[in-house]
Parts: sequence; structure tokens; C-alpha cells
Amino acid sequence: MVVAVIGGTGVYDSKWLDAVEEKTVDTPYGKALILEGRRPGIDSPVYFMNRHGLNHSVPPHLVNYRANLFALRSLGVDRIVATTAVGSLNPEYGPGSIVLVDQFLDFTKARAHTFHQGGPTGVVHTDMTEPYCPDMRRILAEVARNQGISCFTGGVYVATEGPRFETPAEIRAFRMLGGDVVGMTGVPEVVLARELDLCYTTVSLVTNFAAGLSQSPLTHQEVLEVMANNVAHLRSILLEALPSLTKTGDCHCHNSQH
Ligand code: HPA
Repeated sequence: MVVAVIGGTGVYDSKWLDAVEEKTVDTPYGKALILEGRRPGIDSPVYFMNRHGLNHSVPPHLVNYRANLFALRSLGVDRIVATTAVGSLNPEYGPGSIVLVDQFLDFTKARAHTFHQGGPTGVVHTDMTEPYCPDMRRILAEVARNQGISCFTGGVYVATEGPRFETPAEIRAFRMLGGDVVGMTGVPEVVLARELDLCYTTVSLVTNFAAGLSQSPLTHQEVLEVMANNVAHLRSILLEALPSLTKTGDCHCHNSQH
């Protein structure tokens, strides 16, 4: 299995990859910039993509999710592990916590969220019963446990449109609906991965309690600071998990129902 890492906010460094080559991939949806490299003990190439582009210049609502996912697939990627910075709605998931979510609620509004536009290829409805790969989640949880890094397995990711943060009323509503964490980039990335029959999972790092649960106004600076203080944990889990992630796993991601 060929694995790609999509680095979100605060995860920009590609020094963990050897023999890095920059690839600009042309897709029907636009260009995508991807780094191809090597990792010790892994025969296939490993890919790294910066979701927010160079110098964090692309905000969540303008990320070209379709180009990114299409490009990774066209390079032969089978499995994607994506990082996301999130706010927490769950009092148990404090800043610095790592959460491996297993469901999402979609409150995005204005994004190209599907590859399927009808026409000659027909109407396609993709099954979302298991949006995140359970095998990848199991591997990441096991590695985190072995490393003594606290990590919550399971949780509901609420995707908002951004780029503004949420109101306290929205956060109260999301909590009532069952949300655990809130972020701006998880959807449609996970949906497009399902449409392409890829294994996909996210490792979410809680950078703050969400609006209203936090006593102070939220700032992007705060998100960056907490991310910077905890990125070493994310990196050590990802790097140790990579060889296991390249093994064919016990999941149905590659033959999903449409
Ligand atoms: N809301 C939305 N996205 C986020 C947050 C938040 O509180 N923190 C980090 N990303």
C-alpha cells in the first residue's frame, strides 16, 4: 500500500522524508503540489502534501480538495493519513489531546464536495457508513498507546465552513448533535477519499476548547502555538505507524458501495 500524509495547520515539515522530489500534478480540477520521498524500511514511495500550500497561504474554504485527492490517487496512493487542528466540544478532550475520529457532521456550505456530477457516468451515491479507515485508526491508536501518548479513539468531527470561528450558540448546538471536535478542513477531504475508494483517516490535535467553552476569544495564533507545542507527538506517532500503514489491512475501503 502506498501511503500519503496530508499535513494540516502546523504540520509543514517534510524533513522526515529522504530523497525528496517535488511533483506538480495536473488534474481535471487544477494543479496539486506533492512531495515524493522515501522512508527507511518502506519499499514504496511515501508522499507528503501540505493542505494549506506554501507558507500556509490557502484558507480552509479555498483548499482545492478535489485536485489534492485526485492527484494523490493518480500517483498510486492507496492510503491517506491527514492531520487536522481542531477545537474541542468535549470537556474530556482538552488542548493537546489527540483524537482519532470515526464519524463526521458536515456543516460546510460552499465547497466542491464531490467528483460525481451525473452525466454519462450516471448518478453516484457513496456509502458513508465507515468514513474513516478502521484499520488505519487501529494502527495509529496502538502506536500512540505504545509510545505513552494519550489518544482518544473515536469521536465525531464537526466540519464548519470557516474561515471564521464558530459562535458559542453554534458550538452548543453541535454538542447537542453529538459533536466532539470542530474543524474547517476535514470535509470534503474524507468524502472525496471515499469516492475514490481510498483508505483515509485523520489524526486531530485539539488546540483549544471551542467558542463559549473557552474563556477567551479564539485566535489563529493560539491554534498555531498549541500545534507547535504538540507537533512532536503527532510526528512520532505518524513515523512509527508508517510501515504498518503500508501493509494491506482488514478494511473495506477499497471496495466501497456507490
Ligand atoms: N474551530 C474551528 N476550527 C478550528 C478550531 C475551532 O475552534 N480550532 C482549530 N481549528
